[in-house]
Amino acid sequence: MKNKTNTISAKNKYVKTAKKKTSPPKKSLLSKKNKEEQKIPGLEGSASFRKLAAKPRFKKHAERYRNILENIRDGYFEVDLVGNFTFFNDSVCRILGYSSEELMGMNYRQYTDKDNAKKVFQTYNKVYKTGEPTEGFDWLIIRKDGAKRYIEASVSLLKDSSGKPKGCRSIIRDITERKQMEERYRRIFENAQNGIYQSTLEAKFIMANQSMAQILGYDSPEDLIFSITDISSQLYANPEECMQFIEMMEKQGLVKNFEVQFRKKDGRIIWVSRTTQVFRNEKGEVLYYEGIIEDITDRKDSFERLRNALGGTVRALASVVETRDPYTAGHQRHVADLALAIAREIGVSTDQIEGLRVAAIIHDIGKISVPSEILTKPGKLTDLEFGIIKVHSQSGYNILKDIDFPWPVAMMVFEHHERMNGTGYPRNLKGDEILLEARILAVSDVVESMASHRPYRASLGIEAALEEIEKNKGIIYDETVVDACLRLFREKGYKLT
Ligand SMILES: [Fe+2]
Repeated sequence: MKNKTNTISAKNKYVKTAKKKTSPPKKSLLSKKNKEEQKIPGLEGSASFRKLAAKPRFKKHAERYRNILENIRDGYFEVDLVGNFTFFNDSVCRILGYSSEELMGMNYRQYTDKDNAKKVFQTYNKVYKTGEPTEGFDWLIIRKDGAKRYIEASVSLLKDSSGKPKGCRSIIRDITERKQMEERYRRIFENAQNGIYQSTLEAKFIMANQSMAQILGYDSPEDLIFSITDISSQLYANPEECMQFIEMMEKQGLVKNFEVQFRKKDGRIIWVSRTTQVFRNEKGEVLYYEGIIEDITDRKDSFERLRNALGGTVRALASVVETRDPYTAGHQRHVADLALAIAREIGVSTDQIEGLRVAAIIHDIGKISVPSEILTKPGKLTDLEFGIIKVHSQSGYNILKDIDFPWPVAMMVFEHHERMNGTGYPRNLKGDEILLEARILAVSDVVESMASHRPYRASLGIEAALEEIEKNKGIIYDETVVDACLRLFREKGYKLT
């Protein structure tokens, strides 16, 4: 410690140097009447401190105090009433890039630009005038090597033994990295294409970026924040969806890609995808929601057009086989209706249900390859004729396999006559080898067929159909699918349309 440069022990020398350096006088941080108080000695420069520090009891305290100042990462300094350094620790030298000899007596204007010097003056002057300390004050310094760094300071007033202000003391910290990070996030926030926002539990916005305002048709984020006082009634096209959203937030804490219709300022309805996270305090109470919205109106419109086009194409395909076999016409629609009801009852995903809808409505498309004499033949079919009909699964697959559906539609059609125990056709698949959608189609197909009239027999009735699937539940038909189908008919009043 003896050989180490010690700012504190070298104090008197620096004070003398400071006297030479501080001329010409800089603009005082304080008012003129306090000019006589400018020459403030540093801590060890004060006679009273020297006297006290000489006493063994206080010597120990002074030593501890010195050790703390020397070892903290934060800079500690004192300035006189015009802002000249009178006392500082090594961290101040490190932060500013000057040696302790250079720094002693240096004025704040020597390491700040004009704008920042003004900020510094105003802050320190306010502390002087009010006597109130301040925290979190940041400004830009220019180091000796020319590098610019941000520092954050707390400032409080220093008084002499008679209670008169004699300068200020500050603790400073280099916050350049934090500032740069904040700046990066600020740029992302401001330039993001998506709307970014924070909102309260009371359904008000507390923060929004320009894109958020733009998406919702407001002139500025301020316009949006001021105008929307109730998100639920003003923004949601269907306010009950807001409640649904809040319930999901309560349960999950994070809701991703919640697609909902919002009302713009001019009343137009748009589709947005909303991803939101809840922020809570340590007691678990909700502080605010933070999230992103994306305008997906164009995508939704395109999707809707494609969906309609696909629906039209599928109906056209279905009608091809239906014109050749009037019994198939109603059959495919009825099977589709029952298959979707079963899928919903099981809890199949919305996306899978969409695929199943398409497959069901054309599941017998392959019958186009079966001569209409066989399809419409009254009476029992011969083995040969039945063999020809059985080809329709493969034919259907062949017709559909090159269509790039977002679902395995061709495979569903291919497998709709497979059976759980491997007794189906055309590939004798078993159990999970068969697509779930195909297992649903199989049950729906059997129930609808048995309950309907056929060219070769009258209807066997719905009860006989349900008994057939119940009897073979878990053997040739999927157990879960059969249970769902039986529940629909026997408990939920489902009827074939
Ligand atoms: Fe079939």
